[in-house]
Amino acid sequence: MNLKTCLLSCATIATVAVTAHASVDISVDAGKIGPEIQPTMYGLFFEDINYGADGGLYAEKIKNRSFEFPQNLAGWITFGNVELKNDGPFERNPHYVSLSAAGHNDKHTGLDNEGFFGVSCVGGEKYRFSVWARSPKGANLDVQLIDSASTIVAKERIKVTSPEWKKYSVEITPSRTVNKGKLRLFLAKPDDTVLDLEHVSLFPVDTWNGHENGLRKDLAQALADIHPGVFRFPGGCIVEGTQLPDRYQWKNTVGPVENRPLNQNRWHYTFTDRFYPDYYQSNGLGFYEYFLLAEEMGAAPLPVLNVGMACQYQNRTLDAHVPVDSLDEYIQDAIDLVEFANGPVDSKWGALRAEMGHPEPFGLKYLAIGNEQWGPEYVERLAPFVKALREKCLEIQIVGSSGPSPDGDKFDYLWPEMRRLGVDLVDEHYYCNEDWFRDNAARYDNYPRKGTKVFAGEYACHLKGRKYNLYDAAIHEAAFMTGLERNADVVYMATYAPLFAHKEGWQWRPDMIWFDNLSRYLSSSYYVQKMYAHNKGTNMISVTSNGAPLTGQDGLYASGAYDKDKNAYMVKIVNLSDKPQEVNVDLNKLPKKSVIAGVEIETMTPADQSPECDTPSIETKSLPVTQDSKAKNRTYVQPVVLPAKSFSIVSFTLK
Ligand code: AHR
Repeated sequence: MNLKTCLLSCATIATVAVTAHASVDISVDAGKIGPEIQPTMYGLFFEDINYGADGGLYAEKIKNRSFEFPQNLAGWITFGNVELKNDGPFERNPHYVSLSAAGHNDKHTGLDNEGFFGVSCVGGEKYRFSVWARSPKGANLDVQLIDSASTIVAKERIKVTSPEWKKYSVEITPSRTVNKGKLRLFLAKPDDTVLDLEHVSLFPVDTWNGHENGLRKDLAQALADIHPGVFRFPGGCIVEGTQLPDRYQWKNTVGPVENRPLNQNRWHYTFTDRFYPDYYQSNGLGFYEYFLLAEEMGAAPLPVLNVGMACQYQNRTLDAHVPVDSLDEYIQDAIDLVEFANGPVDSKWGALRAEMGHPEPFGLKYLAIGNEQWGPEYVERLAPFVKALREKCLEIQIVGSSGPSPDGDKFDYLWPEMRRLGVDLVDEHYYCNEDWFRDNAARYDNYPRKGTKVFAGEYACHLKGRKYNLYDAAIHEAAFMTGLERNADVVYMATYAPLFAHKEGWQWRPDMIWFDNLSRYLSSSYYVQKMYAHNKGTNMISVTSNGAPLTGQDGLYASGAYDKDKNAYMVKIVNLSDKPQEVNVDLNKLPKKSVIAGVEIETMTPADQSPECDTPSIETKSLPVTQDSKAKNRTYVQPVVLPAKSFSIVSFTLK
């Protein structure tokens, strides 16, 4: 070798060496399409915590609309002659108010409702006011929306003509937007003598999908935009009850809304520093509405039912729970729920579903029994549910619990017990810090591949101090989730928790979506969920670096999915380190004659910080691609620089 050749060759080696050192090779095995990824894989977990339902997703603006709070006039201010009575038309909500003339000129009788952190309205939008009323001699009711300075922004008059209870409604359109207003109702004229009012309600006309007893459009849309595969409801701890009578009872949440009884919400008193004595469950957003929401979002419904146990955190003794030989009512509730969701219209519960507007079955396939239960006391109660459901509800897959933590004694005891009982999925919960999320991307790599599957039913990265939703937590979640995707033959469902938080009424943080009366704030965690769900794919594929999965080497994490409907390979890569890193993504062993139509990279990086949650920046661009049919049908993109703390999805779409 002469000097010139040697210099050239040494320079080449040096370049290669630098490149090899600086870049990480990520190899996608496109030749082997792996097991199916479940359509349920990425979903949503809803709980009425942080004013998630009443005051949140449920679009009702009136608090204590049926006068059933323990202080019956909580949320209301009365003036003139207002009397509370309890022989109203709705058996399970018997209270109402009776307005009578104030007895003097220029003196009025009526009442204001303060709403949830104010009654809000948007100028120019229509609202439907409704009330059940009766008046022995007929009376006129003035309905006003007022701002915080008592200035009227909308008004209408309702003529109550019947001495019998009847529903009256009117549409009102505010002249301008108000965040913290009130609803004001009063007898309009001096000769209006007596007027009884019950179930006072105010909804936007424009709810999500236009349902009358509907959902706040912006919040429901945010859920639907994720394209969730599964929708778990109604919680969480609220399923359990501080005592069994306050447990969530689905039968109290169906049928006419006026007759759905109030329930306490355990989140009103759980934390003394976040105490909300006016936080109750109206049950206006109930099981019918949850099933409908799931259907309209295209998600599989996953209800969670009480297993005959009150909250184990709030009760340390076994006598808080139903004796094992007295579970019949609870088991029947489960069987009846399956009939409500799936039964024919001539069955008792199927008929109620049809009467409520949905004769077609909801197609329920999954049912969780018990929330975050633990110990032998859970196992011995779950067993008779499993037996009964196996006998009577063959279409149902049962979800059991592994307790409140991702490891430890309770977890270690429950998993074998769940397998012994033969449940189909086990619900795992992890509210853990960033170290846990960083270190657990390989958590499922060695789980048994056969038998009971995993439902990662509640998880979120909790940074020190559990502040609002910070980008750093979200990027740790994205890194961890590569491990869910790589193990999609074991993990069938995953849902971040909690879902919602009202800025003025939260008890728990972080949460995926923040909101106030007029706006919503989508966190970085929300966008991580959305990016995964939109690129879920249908089958697993192998993604490796140096022959091994990327589970944190150099701060890099990767996984992949193939989508047979889109004919696309999607590679998720998280750079958790605080420096940019270069990667080479190679698609190997493509079937012969495959032709790449295009390659795109979508990248999430930190962007805005707001007091509620960080919002990321997400950019998509095309990448130049090289297809080399000689080298084992290898297709690769030019080296890609992944920004520090970024989550990227490289998608190769075939023609
Ligand atoms: O998501 C908040 C709470 O965390 C849930 O209600 C409960 O299941 C868990 O402990």
